[in-house]
Amino acid sequence: MKSAGLVFLVLLFSVLFALQAGFSDEGSAAALYKARCAACHGEDGHPKGIAKNSAAFPDEAWKKSTSLEEVAQVISRGRSKMPAFGSKLSPEEIQALAAYVLAMKDPA
Ligand code: HEC
Repeated sequence: MKSAGLVFLVLLFSVLFALQAGFSDEGSAAALYKARCAACHGEDGHPKGIAKNSAAFPDEAWKKSTSLEEVAQVISRGRSKMPAFGSKLSPEEIQALAAYVLAMKDPA
């Protein structure tokens, strides 16, 4: 009986771990965006105040005019009043944020 309990626990933890791994990409990009970017770029990707010269991220024309690499570079190096995040975020986090920003859409 003891070993059945152990097997159950191991199974439970593997399922939890798999779920966490599966959802963490999107989840952490969204959480990072809220924590690090939304103050200037708005939760919906429409810039406010200090970031008014920035494109609105859901804007299709902007998405076509840029690329994942370019967006990742702006995040990493900063631009005019935008701080550089290269030393604050990992390359993976920056890539995830770039992809997140490029996938933003206005509500239909
Ligand atoms: C302190 C305010 C501030 C924060 C925080 C900030 N930004 Fe910016 N961001 C700006 C400003 C200002 C610009 C416009 C710079 C310019 O004039 O070219 C900008 C520009 C950009 C651009 C280029 C848009 C374009 O027009 O091509 C991207 C992409 C971007 N930010 C992404 C992010 C992401 C992702 C984060 C979070 C990691 C972030 N920013 C955090 C202020 C900010």
